[in-house]
Amino acid sequence: RRGGGRGWGRGSGGGERGGRGRGGRRGPGPPPGLRGKEIGLYFARRNRERREWADTHQKVAISIDPRSQQALQRIISKIRSEEGWSHERLDSINAVAMDYLSSTARPTSSNLSGAGSTQRFLRNASVDENLYQGLEEKTQSEEYQRMLEFRKQLPAYTMRQQIVELVEGNQVVVISGETGSGKTTQVPQFILDSYIESGKGSICKVICTQPRRISAISVAERVAAERGERCGQSAGYHIRLECRAPRDRGSILFCTTGILLQQLQSDPYILSASHVILDEVHERDLQTDFLTVILKDLLAVRPDLHVILMSATINADLFTSYFGNCPRLEIPGIAFPVEVHYLEDVLEQTRYQGNSAFHKGSGVRRKDRRDVMNMVGDSLPFVRSLEGKYSSMTLDVLAEWNELRIDLDLVHALIAHICATKPEGAILVFLPGWEQISELNKRLTSNPSLKGSSLIIPLHSMMPTVNQRQVFNRPPPGIRKIVLATNIAETSITINDVVYVIDCGKIKMSNFDVESNLATLDAEWVSKANAQQRKGRAGRVQPGVCYRLYTSWRDSQLDPYQLPEMLRTRLEALILKIKILKLGSAEAFLQKAINPPSPEALHLSLQFLISLKALNEDETLTPLGYHLAKLPLEPQTGKMIIMASIFSCLDPILTVAASLSFKDAFMVPLGKERLVDEVKRKFAGDTKSDHMMLANVFAEWEDAVGMHQGNEFCYENFLSRSTLNMLANMRQQFAQYLEDLNFIDTQNIKAQKLNRNSDNRRVLQAVICAGLYPNVAKGQFTRSTRLVRCSTKTDRRAELHPKSVNVFGSNFDTQWFAYYTKIRSTKTYLHDVTPIYPIALLLFGGFFRHSGDTITLDNWITFHCDDNLAELVQDLRQEFDRILEKKIAAPGLQAGTVSESQQELLATIIQVLTDETTFVPEMPDGALNDDNDSFGVMDEA
Ligand SMILES: Nc1ncnc2c1ncn2[C@@H]1O[C@H](COP(=O)(O)OP(=O)(O)OP(=O)(O)O)[C@@H](O)[C@H]1O
Ligand SMILES: [Mg+2]
Repeated sequence: RRGGGRGWGRGSGGGERGGRGRGGRRGPGPPPGLRGKEIGLYFARRNRERREWADTHQKVAISIDPRSQQALQRIISKIRSEEGWSHERLDSINAVAMDYLSSTARPTSSNLSGAGSTQRFLRNASVDENLYQGLEEKTQSEEYQRMLEFRKQLPAYTMRQQIVELVEGNQVVVISGETGSGKTTQVPQFILDSYIESGKGSICKVICTQPRRISAISVAERVAAERGERCGQSAGYHIRLECRAPRDRGSILFCTTGILLQQLQSDPYILSASHVILDEVHERDLQTDFLTVILKDLLAVRPDLHVILMSATINADLFTSYFGNCPRLEIPGIAFPVEVHYLEDVLEQTRYQGNSAFHKGSGVRRKDRRDVMNMVGDSLPFVRSLEGKYSSMTLDVLAEWNELRIDLDLVHALIAHICATKPEGAILVFLPGWEQISELNKRLTSNPSLKGSSLIIPLHSMMPTVNQRQVFNRPPPGIRKIVLATNIAETSITINDVVYVIDCGKIKMSNFDVESNLATLDAEWVSKANAQQRKGRAGRVQPGVCYRLYTSWRDSQLDPYQLPEMLRTRLEALILKIKILKLGSAEAFLQKAINPPSPEALHLSLQFLISLKALNEDETLTPLGYHLAKLPLEPQTGKMIIMASIFSCLDPILTVAASLSFKDAFMVPLGKERLVDEVKRKFAGDTKSDHMMLANVFAEWEDAVGMHQGNEFCYENFLSRSTLNMLANMRQQFAQYLEDLNFIDTQNIKAQKLNRNSDNRRVLQAVICAGLYPNVAKGQFTRSTRLVRCSTKTDRRAELHPKSVNVFGSNFDTQWFAYYTKIRSTKTYLHDVTPIYPIALLLFGGFFRHSGDTITLDNWITFHCDDNLAELVQDLRQEFDRILEKKIAAPGLQAGTVSESQQELLATIIQVLTDETTFVPEMPDGALNDDNDSFGVMDEA
């Protein structure tokens, strides 16, 4: 079947290669006699010619066999005669659908104005009485009293009265205080208890947001314990996929910021709360910043609502001034001193001698060499200033110190040093990311002198919540607890027995480079604020020590704060939220933020949403956009699962979507990277798709679990069972959302009717394409159809990430790929790809233009196509769009039911997708062997 369609594919890749020599000539270098600039011009011209050659000759033809063409033509005319030509009907469906969709979304919005807004919190005397009695009894208990003794020691406790009065006397207050002073655990309780004690517990409900899942749980459990209870009574939590909510009235709910944002859709005025506490506002994460703007607006509408912002001391003033100089209260910290040792001291103490930037194994890439030289140069005056105060060995090591590298050997040496020479106390190590945590864990666990005397706990936001709980327990005597963490342990997680903090000084930051429209992910220097916070973690219960693995000179160079997330991230999901919450124009709304994002970043994200067809040109939500806004997923993955429900291939695509939004389940033990890559390729089979590989992994795991071999399966294949479980939960949650939105009518992911095409690879690829578009790349291949590199609309050159299953792949049968993640680190990498075929691109792609013998999508994807076929394709797109719009606008409703002819069209389209063949045009020989392009020349110079 593969070759069958060839006759219809008139692509001209190989055929004419010999005929035109220009692009095909291997460029041996410029002709002799050229000098300086001329050489550059020579290469520039040659590359331009090559690109032109590629543009005209790399166009693959669209192939639909004549029988299918006729069938499509016939069905389309039938539909048109049945449905009429006009779009009007569809427009009216859309209008009705939007009305319907938005009215069901906000049951409370129509009949409530600010004035009536307290109605959910009308006082109820018997509830008041019950709450009062309940608390009275509780406080008698031994458990409660024991905890109270502890609470009384906290700095916050001594300010209890002040806090309560300030909160009650003002609509907004900022409470700041050093870490551990009792903000998170005490302030909500003070508020609640003051209401209950004064006999009005029924009108008190405190919602306290946390930026992270794990802190929401641990804080809720702590508060419940302090109240002599379990979660679910007067305190509880709600995070995605886990909810242990407290009683409705007279209680405290700790939830993630995301959950409160989600709740705003059904409760836009937060009527379910009397007090909203935004915790950790100083972190400036996107969602908290967003919620801050919303709350500021809400204050006018809900004069009875109390808003409390809690922050570290560092930048608390920013928030008071944002809220028109609202009152601020500072809780003094616990004053255990923390001694700070910098790199120079650590080297002196450990006598560590590695990490020269100039040694052979330093791993400094050629292109980084200048940076490293500069860095070393910059710090030399500092190193000289240490002469006489430090040993010459330390000075020598410092003089060549490679700051780019995170030196795990040094961390290891330091840990061993502490274990061997320092009094008891847990060690908390701050590392940038998972790789370093796992690598250090490996080293520590294989160190015989630590065996039996230490308990090593890796702590990462992507680890399951169960394992993380052991981090709070005190280890048995004689055992030293060593916690390896990312900045997750910087705030929100409180590990009491930490006495030693090791701060490697780097933090993994995802950034969005507006100019190049590219995400970047680099380990960057921490800010002073981070470093301060990390240090504070050592002095919780007694004086502590903080080891900073950078010099005191570097410390003086650090930025005061990290850039707020709103300024370094894409804004699509945020814009959809603004739209669904009806907060007006995205720009006007975000202008009100503490630090508004740049107009360019906003524009890029708006354009992206328009190209996803989630927004209309006038920035209003399309029905699709409406659904995407309701899903707790990035818009692209959201679109993918909606398409999967329409194309009946739900099971595998839910896995793809869950993995893309969370992470894949692979664990890569140190030194086993190659084996893991092999396992991945095994799962990918011949799909050549990173996404389908993930779906296969999950499906095979489910089978293994069915045969009670889940654990062996995970072990053999380097998979994390907890991640797979998390993915399973997410899949189920997605199914539930799809059911809520009416796209499916059962939550049984395995139901036959949801999976008619789950075995049809082409349909899966098309659905992935539908979700990921416009993230499309074009491959360039050698004669043996080995993939050499890719280009995208905006990147002339992008590489497959080494972890992709396709990285050494050959025998590709299409030129096009869809990708989810493109990140620039050392190069521009596509992290994951799935091959896609022209017809799927035509159906799901953007702006369509037909001229001459060429179809162009979004001004860059081109196909060869004769007039008749082009016309058919255009008609097909139109009718296909109408079917999708209908299904999306009114899922599960009468208005969304497609006619019999439209069903027939869908079936035929699926057939055409299934039968489609295309092929891979070869590049001219020279173009591939020769890596010099016009920029390349500059690079080498
Ligand atoms: N899960 C827990 N287990 C045991 N003790 C805890 C727990 N959580 C908090 N504590 C204790 O309660 C004290 C106050 O913690 P809390 O989280 O309220 O401080 P905070 O002011 O919010 O600090 P941060 O700025 O770090 O968020 C801590 O110092 C710690 O001793
Ligand atoms: Mg706190």
